[in-house]
Amino acid sequence: MSTAFDHPEYNYKVVRQFAIMTVVWGIVGMAVGVLIAAQLAWPALNFDTPWLSFGRLRPLHTNAVIFAFGGSALFATSYYIVQRTCRTRLFSDTLASFTFWGWNAVIVAAAITLPMGLTSTKEYAELEWPIDILVTLVWVAYVVNFLGTLAIRKESHIYVANWFFAAFMIMIAILYVGNNLAVPVSLTKSYSIWAGTIDAMIQWWWGHNAVGFFLTAGFLGIMYYFVPKQAGRPVYSYRLSIVHFWALISIYVWAGGHHLHYSALPDWAQTAGMVMSLILLAPSWGGMINGMMTLSGAWHKLRNDPILRFLVVSLSFYGMSTFEGPMMSIKTVNALSHNTDWTIGHVHSGALGWVAMVSIGALYHLIPIMFGRKAGDMHSIKLINVHFWLSTIGTVLYIAAMWVNGIMQGLMWRAVNADGTLTYSFVESVEASHGGYVVRVLGGALFLTGMLIMAYNVFMTVRAAKKEAGNAVAAQA
Ligand code: HEM
Ligand code: HEM
Repeated sequence: MSTAFDHPEYNYKVVRQFAIMTVVWGIVGMAVGVLIAAQLAWPALNFDTPWLSFGRLRPLHTNAVIFAFGGSALFATSYYIVQRTCRTRLFSDTLASFTFWGWNAVIVAAAITLPMGLTSTKEYAELEWPIDILVTLVWVAYVVNFLGTLAIRKESHIYVANWFFAAFMIMIAILYVGNNLAVPVSLTKSYSIWAGTIDAMIQWWWGHNAVGFFLTAGFLGIMYYFVPKQAGRPVYSYRLSIVHFWALISIYVWAGGHHLHYSALPDWAQTAGMVMSLILLAPSWGGMINGMMTLSGAWHKLRNDPILRFLVVSLSFYGMSTFEGPMMSIKTVNALSHNTDWTIGHVHSGALGWVAMVSIGALYHLIPIMFGRKAGDMHSIKLINVHFWLSTIGTVLYIAAMWVNGIMQGLMWRAVNADGTLTYSFVESVEASHGGYVVRVLGGALFLTGMLIMAYNVFMTVRAAKKEAGNAVAAQA
């Protein structure tokens, strides 16, 4: 069915659908995040009910925020950018529609099976094999559609954002399938073909590159299009974008060993993971600096453009988490940080500060265009500003609380008395973490409130756009 907002040349319908679902899944995933954060502070909130317990809701949270929220943002923006920069319609509308409905079917299946306790038990790869097959089909359709669009482009040059998207989708396809290879024993249970140390290695080959390609390369694609657009300036250095692209994708795949320090993984492989992680600082900062410097000559725009602020602050968090990551990958630092809340703080400075904020900035630019308005022409710019501050303060509260908790836990666990016995029991470290957990609930709740304000702003924008379109039709009649 065609609507008043269909573009004569591009397929904006699928972009619109994914953009709206990004907001919806963002709210759902973050609401579950706030709930599990509250459960860690007040365990009574598990309600003695298996499907409401932390252990089952935690993977629901990670799947919902990474794949439902982050994934929808990536689908929306990549479909938008590839059409605009190639000056051509998507290769196939049917495949586009299949990816939208298929991806949402995956999300619904995850939301049902994970609370039921049906899981393959591998982190970020919890979904059981029938859902994995659906994920694979959807992903192949996505890759074919994206690369097919590049193949039929009317612009000879392939803009750098598309390189990042292509690397992200190809690597995710390989790693997802590789890590999820399993022997099914029933419709709801399978066993991985990998075992022991090899299983751990393959798992973190995937896990770390889910960070490197899903949560980084794809979002750098978003950054390379929307930062220059919103700032009204060309990318600072196109050459740097190409150099750091190749450096980033060729180094990320070797860094996963840092998740397995002091484990049964051969020592040389752990050290290789550490060294590659340290090298990774350079291409990561190449991207951050390139994005930041794009603003040279346009810094004043930050004063009254909250959308640009979202994008620029997301880059600062990206720079921060990609400095912190290499530091945490140093074995002696990891001996302190591993298994503590420091890791959780690191995750969320990347996830909230970078991934969520760059997506939110991009959506505020894009959603009005999807409904026939000018870029960034949302119902209320003031509310975007409120959202910006809620997100920034929420993220800072979250990560600062986790730094304090994490370093305190690491130090308490290793403290020994003169006779060699442990100074603190584990439970004492949990007790001491309570304050930090309460602050995290507050930070998460602020971030979630910002998302609810965004949903209201989007709703009002769409409503006004529909009214305008209706008036235009009436005026023509
Ligand atoms: C309102 C916002 C959010 C809140 C309150 C929140 C809260 C939490 C909590 C409480 C945990 C479990 C920590 C633990 O086991 O000790 C967690 C884990 C996690 N969250 Fe969030 N989260 C939020 C948003 C996000 C977003 C937007 C993303 C990704 C884009 C994300 C990605 C993750 C990941 C990957 C983990 C697992 C970390 C690990 O295993 O080390 N979160 N989150
Ligand atoms: C140069 C870039 C980065 C490096 C070298 C790096 C390194 C690390 C290290 C050493 C850990 C701790 C492993 C452990 O002790 O178990 C870690 C955990 C993690 N990082 Fe990063 N990080 C980087 C960037 C990022 C970014 C930008 C994000 C998010 C957008 C992110 C998301 C995560 C997640 C989700 C985990 C937790 C994995 C888990 O245990 O479940 N990282 N990272």
